[in-house]
Amino acid sequence: MNFGAFRQVFYQRLTKHYKQGELQTLYHWCVEELEGWGRAQAYLHDEDEMDEARLSRWEKVIERLQQQEPVQYIFGKTLFFGLELQVDARVLIPRPETEELVEWVLNSEGLSEERVLDIGTGSGCIALALKSQRPQWQLRACDVSEGALDVARGNAAILHLPIDFVQADVLGDDEVFDWGSIWVSNPPYIPAHQQKFMEDRVLAHEPHLALFEDHPLQFFEAILAKARTSGVRRVYFETHAQEQGELETLVARTLGANATATFKLDLAGKPRFLRVEIQSS
Ligand SMILES: C[S@@+](CC[C@H](N)C(=O)[O-])C[C@H]1O[C@@H](n2cnc3c(N)ncnc32)[C@H](O)[C@@H]1O
Repeated sequence: MNFGAFRQVFYQRLTKHYKQGELQTLYHWCVEELEGWGRAQAYLHDEDEMDEARLSRWEKVIERLQQQEPVQYIFGKTLFFGLELQVDARVLIPRPETEELVEWVLNSEGLSEERVLDIGTGSGCIALALKSQRPQWQLRACDVSEGALDVARGNAAILHLPIDFVQADVLGDDEVFDWGSIWVSNPPYIPAHQQKFMEDRVLAHEPHLALFEDHPLQFFEAILAKARTSGVRRVYFETHAQEQGELETLVARTLGANATATFKLDLAGKPRFLRVEIQSS
């Protein structure tokens, strides 16, 4: 079988599991990883013969894709803010909207030296992107999951970006949170009861600890309560985009007149990002 024919086999084997557009993206991702060919190049190899060794490598990947395993976990990497990050099932795959959060922080803050704390760092994506753009900032990043911290530390080492990673539970610990002029967090924010609306691909493979929360807004409340006494000036959040009213109420209840909440729309026009400015009293 030649490569052109094999492409049709790839599509047929996966057509039940993915939409047409997704299939093409997946195919090109696999071609790049398994054959080293870019999108345009792939079609120039249609007459190449598939040998046994190649077929066996593709077969393993197709089987994992049939199980709906995210392609980023299969190849162990993803791109975030221009950085190649290693990812595995211990961390959430960084999402494009989180790049919008990073961009907002960078556009809003000046170039002066800051101490920035990333809460719930996962793969380290936010902290690493910020450090890559603002080498003068001191970055600390925490997560409750040792597995996630392991991945994040690995990414920082590969990218030569110095970040102080600390294991901490934002719902319990206090020590780590008496530090920083700016905090950024993309906390778990999907109410647990909404699991039934989520794609199997996410539910079966990504860490639930990173996605779901049992009590609406508990992470926002815990972070804002810590912010009140820590001396932090601004806190940036990624949010669920359906809780603007509740979050405004929460900010007012937790920080009173000392705080101003500003929402920013994501590219889909939803109020996904929140910045809380805290005036020192
Ligand atoms: C939505 S993920 C965000 C990961 C990464 N910052 C990103 O944007 O892709 C939330 C992260 O919070 C961490 N987390 C969950 N509960 C936590 C807790 N109680 N304290 C600190 N981190 C927690 C999870 O392990 C996960 O890495």
